[in-house]
Amino acid sequence: MSATVTRVTGTLAEARPLRDGALYDLVRVGERGLLGEIIRFTGDTATLQIYEDTTGLAVGAPVAVTGAPLTAALGPGLIGAILDGVGRPLARLADASGDFIAPGATAPTLDPARRWRFTPRVAVGDAVAPGDVLGEIIETPSVTHRVLVPAGVRGAIAAIADGELTVDDPVGRLVDGTPLPLAHRWPIRTPRPVARRLPADRPLVTGQRVFDFLFPIALGGTVAVPGGFGTGKTIVEHALAKYADADVVVFVGCGERGNEMAEVLEQFPRLIDPRTGRPIMERTVLVVNTSNMPVVAREASVYLGVTIAEYYRDMGLTVAVMVDSLSRWAEALRDIGARLQEMPGEEGYPTYMASRLGALYERAGRARAVGAPERTGAITLVCAVSPPGGDFSEPVTQASLRVAGGLWALDAQLARARQFPAVDWATSYSLYAEALLPWLAANAAPAWPSLRTRVVALLQRDAELREIASLLGAEEMQDGDRLVLAIASTTREHLLGQNAFDPNDATSSLAKTARMAALIVAAWDAAAAALEAGAELDALPLPAFRRAFADVRRAGPAELEARAVLADQAIAAITAVTAIGAGGAS
Ligand SMILES: Nc1ncnc2c1ncn2[C@@H]1O[C@H](COP(=O)(O)OP(=O)(O)OP(=O)(O)O)[C@@H](O)[C@H]1O
Ligand SMILES: [Mg+2]
Repeated sequence: MSATVTRVTGTLAEARPLRDGALYDLVRVGERGLLGEIIRFTGDTATLQIYEDTTGLAVGAPVAVTGAPLTAALGPGLIGAILDGVGRPLARLADASGDFIAPGATAPTLDPARRWRFTPRVAVGDAVAPGDVLGEIIETPSVTHRVLVPAGVRGAIAAIADGELTVDDPVGRLVDGTPLPLAHRWPIRTPRPVARRLPADRPLVTGQRVFDFLFPIALGGTVAVPGGFGTGKTIVEHALAKYADADVVVFVGCGERGNEMAEVLEQFPRLIDPRTGRPIMERTVLVVNTSNMPVVAREASVYLGVTIAEYYRDMGLTVAVMVDSLSRWAEALRDIGARLQEMPGEEGYPTYMASRLGALYERAGRARAVGAPERTGAITLVCAVSPPGGDFSEPVTQASLRVAGGLWALDAQLARARQFPAVDWATSYSLYAEALLPWLAANAAPAWPSLRTRVVALLQRDAELREIASLLGAEEMQDGDRLVLAIASTTREHLLGQNAFDPNDATSSLAKTARMAALIVAAWDAAAAALEAGAELDALPLPAFRRAFADVRRAGPAELEARAVLADQAIAAITAVTAIGAGGAS
């Protein structure tokens, strides 16, 4: 007797009798073949989570078990793709079924018609083992795809291709007849293995000064970005997707607001990578939850994105994964848990939410890939979190903080003051900061560690002084303290602030960041020396320095040094006052 639907409640259905399927197996439900997963068994009754609109689905509808869990199709053609939460390519889906994607519509993730030029890296007779590189495909001008021996396959090569292949063609075969596929499927909830995990010792350069300089993230690290409504989470995630120094970027849009996904789809295909001058989509995979997919598909989309990231990591590439926002993922869990009538935990989230979140973060990291030749890859994970009312004590923020290596806390008050990125430097932190300093000193600027120490000290003193000023008024302050307030104000506005909408300011090289930090510290020292020598604060040309510094901030790479020299001259002018002031005093 074949299984049929016995009950439908929203996107959950019950089916009976169902014995052959396993937990998390994929099912096709009803005449339209709606995509679903088995999420619980009670005897021969299965509870099905359906990933599509269930309107019209009724008791008695047929249920087909596919016998496999929800998997990701992994092969060339993922880069540049725009996929929905279960891996369907939106463009080809629209070609197949029109602009409105009909429930049950299918289209393979990887284009079966596309031909790829495969160049072998092994020869007939070579012994190969799981993870070994069989050959390469130029997937895009920015990404060289390595085709690897699948898990569990080893032996001697009997045949290997050299030429044009589709994703359904094998690239070769072993002596025992085992075919070597160009593409394969991987269950999205199962982490792909690595040979060895490696410590985080170099940064993922984000192009955002407040992060690179104060709260750097390690390559293979994890960061949570909580922030209340409108504090700039999406802009931060977009900035990293556009400018972070990664070989591959996977952006998972969980659909914060309807028009946000439309913005991504409209913007990203037009963006140019400043590092290579090439379109950003040549290194980007977009996973977006469209509005006609139910909320629960957001849950799967995060795993799909991470699985694709692991696939490119295994090739030896650095991958950055942006999730906007993980709260929507957690809400999907809450939804499913509630419908399953599970005992709810804090604020209605299932009790396993925190451990699932931890397991997800675990899939990030720097690692030596399985197989030869030796390859090192990394997945860096940056997850926005949307705490209701901006209250960081809520469960998703708290669970994120327990596992993330960094916290970029976005603050509503800073956002209101239009200090963007609205990073609250008092509560934000990076557990990687110390470990990354040697790399930054060697690769960005020798003075980087000492500049960072000075700027951190400046900001701390500034916070203390502003507290005092708010109690006593700034008039009563000594010139030395007023100098700290003035330099810190320039630091906050122009060193830590970046305007996402100014092409010259939206991203900052490490060289620019280091040059700007050095200017701030030099100006501070020059002005402090002038006060020391008896000059008055109001007599120092600090406003001229501030203007010159703002121009440095807005400089493109070509103008940077010329403008920095003008700022150097503004500092020299402060020092010149010292000479006059000191001369006048004697
Ligand atoms: N770096 C930036 N430069 C300039 N403006 C910014 C920057 N970051 C944020 N903003 C401003 O703040 C607005 C809100 O940002 P964003 O949409 O990223 O917030 P959000 O936290 O994702 O909001 P939501 O809670 O609605 O998802 C932007 O539309 C923009 O006007
Ligand atoms: Mg947002």
